[in-house]
Amino acid sequence: MTVPKPEPRVERFERLAYGMFIHYGLYSQLGKGEWIMHLADMPKAQYAKLKDTFRAEEFDGRKIARLAREAGMRYITITTRHHDGFSLYDTCGLSEYDAVHSPAKRDLIADFVHGCRQEGILPFFYHTTLDWYQDSFQEDFPGYLEYLRRSVELLCTNYGPIGGLWFDGNWSRPDADWELDKLYGLIRKHQPEAMIINNTGLEARGQVIHQEIDSVTFEQGRPLPMAREGMPKYIAAEMCQTMNQHWGLGKQDFAYMSPKELIENLCACRKVGANYLLNVGPLASGEIPNYEAATLRRVGEWIKLHGDLLYEGKPSSVKGADDDFALDYRGKTYLFIHDLSIQGDKNVVRMRSGAGPRSFSGATGSIDKVQWLDNDEHLSFAQDVDSGLLVIDATGYPYGTNLVVRVAEISYG
Ligand code: GLC
Repeated sequence: MTVPKPEPRVERFERLAYGMFIHYGLYSQLGKGEWIMHLADMPKAQYAKLKDTFRAEEFDGRKIARLAREAGMRYITITTRHHDGFSLYDTCGLSEYDAVHSPAKRDLIADFVHGCRQEGILPFFYHTTLDWYQDSFQEDFPGYLEYLRRSVELLCTNYGPIGGLWFDGNWSRPDADWELDKLYGLIRKHQPEAMIINNTGLEARGQVIHQEIDSVTFEQGRPLPMAREGMPKYIAAEMCQTMNQHWGLGKQDFAYMSPKELIENLCACRKVGANYLLNVGPLASGEIPNYEAATLRRVGEWIKLHGDLLYEGKPSSVKGADDDFALDYRGKTYLFIHDLSIQGDKNVVRMRSGAGPRSFSGATGSIDKVQWLDNDEHLSFAQDVDSGLLVIDATGYPYGTNLVVRVAEISYG
């Protein structure tokens, strides 16, 4: 069975590789995550008062997009409307529950898209399908779906070409008819280059719910390789993840991942050709917390050491053990070696294990040389071309460096 060829929009999406997810809304003022209205059982009228204090005075699309670019990210997916029903965009009369009717008095999505374009970042729109605010969601579902479609149509027609729509919430009514042909049809009509993504949530990662879906999601979980043989079309994969344990700002959530963990997660995604969508939770003001920005920039420095490899490299037929893996790029193969230690004096280097032989299978092309990308050091290796077994002698980091994941370049003879 053959693997179908990806459509251009899907191919482009895979090359974006690494994106920023932004959860920003009324809930950001409370700093307890984006589900707080629901989880704290807040009456709608009480929660809706947050609109009167929503200023978003520091929300700056250009600044956000610049950070994404510096962090090595190529796209941003922002919550245009989350489950609380409040829209960051101008709903053009569909509702008064939007940013233009708040003290912010502006269309934050227009500012966001403009900033993205200036920085060469592709904008994507997250949009909820579940709505805790609209009565029609409970009482008149067909009416609600009409409202949802008109909302999405605004996003498709008012902001120029966008990267895609990222839906979330169908899991709240698994048995309902969401009339997806109509919803997705209008995206195809107005934005033929846009990806259609539907988040299937924590319980059903990687599921395809409709023939128009262009990428599956792996929420908060390492993506699995896609079994694409015999699929009716090529579908991409994306893992979305929080840096701590909340999507919307969690003022008292200190459980942050380190640059090391983020690099490892990015690698785990690229290992299977999946994109990595990493979340930030802006402050009430709309500014991305400096501790999040600093972490992202640090990871960006690691990415830049590898040129376009992380974006353009494709999963190789050369396979590693444990976390080690290989990508093919421009006629060469790149081995991603994990858990190496620093080589050095025993009085200064704490952990000295980790370096040594690493094996790969599927290496049937005759190898000429293997060398670290970072310092060009040549590595000794043994290869059995017939069986495809390759063993490299992975030396440790020279004192003064630790790349977390170290890349060796294989050139063929
Ligand atoms: C879940 C949550 C939601 C979050 C999303 C991001 O579906 O309901 O709050 O926006 O995941 O992946």
